[in-house]
Amino acid sequence: GGVITIDPGYKNTGSCESAITFLDGEKGILRYRGYSIEELAEKADFLEVAYLLIFGELPTQDELDQFHSDIKKHAVVDDDIKKILDAFPKSAHPMGVLASLTSALTAFNPTSVDVNSEEEMYNAIVRILGKFPILVAWTMRKKHGMPLDYGSSSLGYVENILQMMFKRPDQDYEQNPILVNALDKLLILHADHEQNCSTSTVRITGSSHAGLFVSLSAGISALWGPLHGGANQAVLEMLEAIKEDGGDTKKYMAKAKDKEDPFRLMGFGHRVYKNFDPRAKIIKVAADEVLSDLGVEDPILDIAKGLEKEALEDQYFVDRKLYPNVDFYSGIIYRGMGIPTEMFTVMFALGRLPGWISQWREMRMRKEPIGRPRQLYTGETYRPFKDISNR
Ligand code: CMC
Repeated sequence: GGVITIDPGYKNTGSCESAITFLDGEKGILRYRGYSIEELAEKADFLEVAYLLIFGELPTQDELDQFHSDIKKHAVVDDDIKKILDAFPKSAHPMGVLASLTSALTAFNPTSVDVNSEEEMYNAIVRILGKFPILVAWTMRKKHGMPLDYGSSSLGYVENILQMMFKRPDQDYEQNPILVNALDKLLILHADHEQNCSTSTVRITGSSHAGLFVSLSAGISALWGPLHGGANQAVLEMLEAIKEDGGDTKKYMAKAKDKEDPFRLMGFGHRVYKNFDPRAKIIKVAADEVLSDLGVEDPILDIAKGLEKEALEDQYFVDRKLYPNVDFYSGIIYRGMGIPTEMFTVMFALGRLPGWISQWREMRMRKEPIGRPRQLYTGETYRPFKDISNR
């Protein structure tokens, strides 16, 4: 072969051409299909954004209704999925359960695997958009010993998610427009982010023509890590630890700067954004609004603001262009909404679902070749086999 360039972490390697998400890390710009994240978060709802990402245009009302109705037809999972869920220990992390169940869906939906035509892809896509929120809600309900429930087909996509998560048995669930709005916004902000770790994982898994659901399951596993989607849970645990420890943010700043200490300031830094993360800007304002609308006073928010202020003025963080990222404030909103900490990364996965789907679909429609990077071999040259008695 030709010359091989090694680029650990693919910091300077493009893996594909894509027409989905535009990101300018220097200027802090993020656009889905040309529309700015600020406008979408303000004016669109999550299902519209999902349609936009996947199919490239904002839907007309008729297109959106059709899309939603196709999704609703599949908003049910096989009863045996309940048995699989039941077999997990209660202590299981919801992300592991979600990845497993997403993969398990393949067994019950075999027609969603070998998809080649646009129509076959569409069918697999509306299937997973219908079923995924059920899995999300159930991983939470299982953990809290709540009976597994389906939502209601008369509700909007996001309202239905809230009902499936929070409805108590034998009680009506009253929709709170503040929660619906907040969740819509959070999901939109997380919906796509070009070739990040989990998305690249989905594309490369799907490039072998493995099915959509298992490709998504691979993406969920990649998202779980604390350097990626798992950061939102890690941020909250860090803020809680600081609070427990007497609120001494300076001590944690020092730890983060100490190269002997593996501790990093969770929710800070980004591979691409080197000035600010536009999602973090929107979320910070939303966190203030949502908590005050809900009447929640959370001392954790003050610690977060204090930490942010200190970091922004600190030479170490300034020199390395480390700014708060999307995960720094999202957990605070989720917590205000009553979502348990262990579910935060699951909520990220729910938001990222349309992004993963659109990237998978684009990869298949463009007939991209199987992903197969090369390497530079640095091991032993040839040596003769040594018999076990001579080792
Ligand atoms: N706290 C302290 N130091 C940091 C941090 C941090 N959060 N992030 C980066 N640095 C330092 C790092 O030690 C390195 O310093 P030096 O040049 O002295 O060796 C320098 O900044 C560059 O960091 P890097 O690790 O080479 O940068 P990267 O692009 O490989 O990593 C990152 C990006 C997001 C993984 C990293 O900033 C990080 O670990 N942040 C904390 C975890 C986090 O919040 N992740 C969520 C990312 S946004 C949403 C998502 O992707 O899910």
